[in-house]
Amino acid sequence: MRVLFAASEVFPLVKTGGLADVSGALPAALIEAGQDVRVLMPGYAAAMDKAEGKREVGNLGDPLGVGAETVLVEGTLPGTAVPVWLLDCPALYHRAGGPYLDVDGADYADNSLRFGLLSWAAAHLCTAGSPSNWRPDVLHCHDWQTGLAPAYLKAWNVAERPATVFTIHNIAYQGQFPPETVPRLGLPWDFYSLAGMEYWNAMSFLKAGLVYSDKLTTVSPRYAKEIQSSPHGCGMEGILAERAADLVGILNGADTGVWDPATDQHIAHRYDAAGLVAGKAANKAALQAELGLAADPEAPLLVIVSRLNDLKGMDLVLSVLPAILRQGAQLAVLGTGDRGLEDGFRAVAAANPSQVAVSIGYSETLAHKLLAAGDMLVMPSRFEPCGLTQLYAMRYGTVPVVHVTGGLADTVVDATYDSLMTGTATGFAFEHANAGAFQWTGERALDAYRQPEQWRKVQKAGMAQDFTWGRSAGRYVDLYRALAPGKA
Ligand code: ADP
Ligand code: GLC
Repeated sequence: MRVLFAASEVFPLVKTGGLADVSGALPAALIEAGQDVRVLMPGYAAAMDKAEGKREVGNLGDPLGVGAETVLVEGTLPGTAVPVWLLDCPALYHRAGGPYLDVDGADYADNSLRFGLLSWAAAHLCTAGSPSNWRPDVLHCHDWQTGLAPAYLKAWNVAERPATVFTIHNIAYQGQFPPETVPRLGLPWDFYSLAGMEYWNAMSFLKAGLVYSDKLTTVSPRYAKEIQSSPHGCGMEGILAERAADLVGILNGADTGVWDPATDQHIAHRYDAAGLVAGKAANKAALQAELGLAADPEAPLLVIVSRLNDLKGMDLVLSVLPAILRQGAQLAVLGTGDRGLEDGFRAVAAANPSQVAVSIGYSETLAHKLLAAGDMLVMPSRFEPCGLTQLYAMRYGTVPVVHVTGGLADTVVDATYDSLMTGTATGFAFEHANAGAFQWTGERALDAYRQPEQWRKVQKAGMAQDFTWGRSAGRYVDLYRALAPGKA
């Protein structure tokens, strides 16, 4: 079966979060499962640089009138055989900032055109007008940046169009633009309606994806339920409840080619489950030295690798931190996000340099080092569609402390009397997203840490979990087959 994957970020070409991890790893797992997959993404400068074996497929012209032509370039994801199609249009995609935000952290003013073009191209490559004769049986779109693709296919009334799947990675990001964007992107006004892509007097890329796709998926079973009501649905709960029969939650996997302490090239000391204690101790000592934390093997080391915002519960971390530090714990943070939270973390680090280290920025290497060195990963997200960092943490024997929501609820088993007795506990979890509940659970985790035998059991149960992509890929293949029967 031929599957075209459309996404706005793909690891290792360009990444701001978990979407990139999924759109890099899932196609590889689908190919492994015998599917014929291509990934379509914008030709950001970094992506054009890193993609291997590039060649031009054809010229797509200037369909949205941006004043520059777009060339379709084919390559492969570095070190893999996963084919990637890049939209080479420097006027839209070669920018000084990130994929969505400029250097000052503001949305690019022309994001509707930048991702309108991505959506347009995803649809166009499914039609007879494509410069390639490879045409998909299934178009699989991800998040709002690709939400208009199914709308274009509908508007063009394409004969023999592929089946369309739209995956919600995070419903809080919706891509809303003023109504005049509708004709600007060449879509018909009658799509701008309550039953179409109109949302509170704006046009919504996300809603277009939700309304015009054949099937909807999200990245954990629990989140699939949560988004059918408020507040998790972020205003889209009505449509999602209506489309409940077409909505399924498929848990993400973890790419063990990238995230495995036994082979990780980023970390000071590699280890597996048998060498867990010595391996973690060595990585912890190396990180404490690197970050200027007190060289204390006994101090529980808490780590955070996250976007810094309230959705991730980072304000809760700042409020419980004084109590946690009083218990002798250390904290190492890596992240970027809201300026107020960045400053808040910097201030705590400045006041407690031997206990708290904060790195504001993005670093693949440091992320690996934190997960290898940490005793606990702290992830008190208010909402979490799936969450990947907790999966990586478990693989590294780093015990997650999480809020019971979305994919965190589906992947972390709270350490209770029962789960400890049966050896199924993999972490510590709290039900209510408030500082009190979080602090109490943090203290529970610190108590357990002081009982090494019990702690090892939790670590090892986490390391033994099977979160490989093969399992998730199988679920997607079943979904594709149901949509495009007879296409193998
Ligand atoms: P989300 O996609 O909502 O940010 P996930 O847990 O699904 O959350 O994925 C986050 C991904 O981004 C993980 O691979 C994590 O390691 C990575 N990440 C987040 N912040 C940083 C950072 N500052 N530096 C390096 N990697 C980061
Ligand atoms: C989003 C979600 C995160 C999920 C990731 C990959 O960024 O916030 O929970 O793991 O997408 O699906």
